Amino acid sequence: MKNKSMSDNNEHAFHIQTKTVHDQNQTRDPYGAVVQPIYQNSLFTFDSWQAIEAAFNDKINNPIYTRGCNPTVALAEQKIADLAKGDISQEIKAKLFGSGMAAISAGMLHFLKAGDHVVTLNNIYGPSISFINDFLKPKMNVEVSFVSGINIDEFEQAIQPNTKLIYLESPSSAIFTLQNLSEITELAKRYGIKTMIDNTWATPLYQKPLELGIDLEMHSCSKYLGGHSDIVAGVLIGSQALIDAIHVCEYELLGAKMAPIEASLLIRSLRTLDLRMARHQDNALKVAEFLENHPKIAKVNYPGLKSFPQAKLATVQMTGCSGLLSFQLAADDLGQIKQFFNSLKLFQIGVSWGGHESLIYAPAIGYLKEQTPAQFAKMGLSLGDMRISVGLENVDDLIADLTKSLINII
Ligand SMILES: Cc1ncc(COP(=O)(O)O)c(C=O)c1O
Repeated sequence: MKNKSMSDNNEHAFHIQTKTVHDQNQTRDPYGAVVQPIYQNSLFTFDSWQAIEAAFNDKINNPIYTRGCNPTVALAEQKIADLAKGDISQEIKAKLFGSGMAAISAGMLHFLKAGDHVVTLNNIYGPSISFINDFLKPKMNVEVSFVSGINIDEFEQAIQPNTKLIYLESPSSAIFTLQNLSEITELAKRYGIKTMIDNTWATPLYQKPLELGIDLEMHSCSKYLGGHSDIVAGVLIGSQALIDAIHVCEYELLGAKMAPIEASLLIRSLRTLDLRMARHQDNALKVAEFLENHPKIAKVNYPGLKSFPQAKLATVQMTGCSGLLSFQLAADDLGQIKQFFNSLKLFQIGVSWGGHESLIYAPAIGYLKEQTPAQFAKMGLSLGDMRISVGLENVDDLIADLTKSLINII
């Protein structure tokens, strides 16, 4: 494509795979570089008083200083907004941050002020809970109610006159329970409450929360959007008015900007998102089915399985599943559990997920340092719980690795 508009004179609207492979509406590089050079500069200079003054008239969209706007970052943002837009007619924008947590904290701070109340889930990502409990509560006097997220009634019962935000994560961390997004957004709109979701697990390819009425969608781009375990980044996606308001306040003033070099790695990754997700999904389903039928496994949590308790809801609000799942070993002997964990060869031990490589992590390692066994159990977790990120390797090799290590569970 020679830098044409992505609708090709309105004759044919390109599919999302084409938009992520090509760079939309870019001016042709003087050397014809097929990949946009990285704008690795902190500031942009102008020919005159009039020119810089004109740029300030639209400083959200004009590169003046990289903490506000940078062309490499803006290109990555455009691609992510295209991915998330789906069938929505209104203008959608994305804003990239230096990490997923930077995006989460900026989003929550945008919606909440001192004295407000937020409703969220018991098992959202740990640092998101810590941001609410250890920052918003003590420093801003924000109140919080935690619900399991399974029933709509719980949300309605938790709503107070000062509730300003319902914060979701579907599927949720560790045990992957879903929330019914359409029901919740209908309820929230009735009460005039904003909704925000961590959509990292499903990716904007497989779940489009904005289409289901969610106000603000968030992703840790350190996971599937980056996909190669070489960047830490986060993104917020929403209506143009909402993202512009976040841009001038929480983005620029808290300053957790996205680095141009990381944005260029992200642009590279987005070109293969569709291909990678298809392989992650295929591999994860085969691994989940293998585990489900193994005598040493007590339970598998994967929304793609037919036996998943919310399998119907999964197919209603998602068009696919990613590669992160958890399972419970049929063992409570910590020695055996550690032997299983340590003898895996292809599943490397690590905390993140969503990259090309398969990983394993046991929630007990981190949580038991910070929480009592009773709090841990309340999250629906036990010592034998394992979380795996199924990567892009040949799935038979992954299953052989698991089979060999499961011999340690007697
Ligand atoms: C579900 C979820 N949300 C958010 C984050 C935070 O993202 P980041 O590590 O990019 O700050 C993570 C990181 O593991 C995560 O698992």
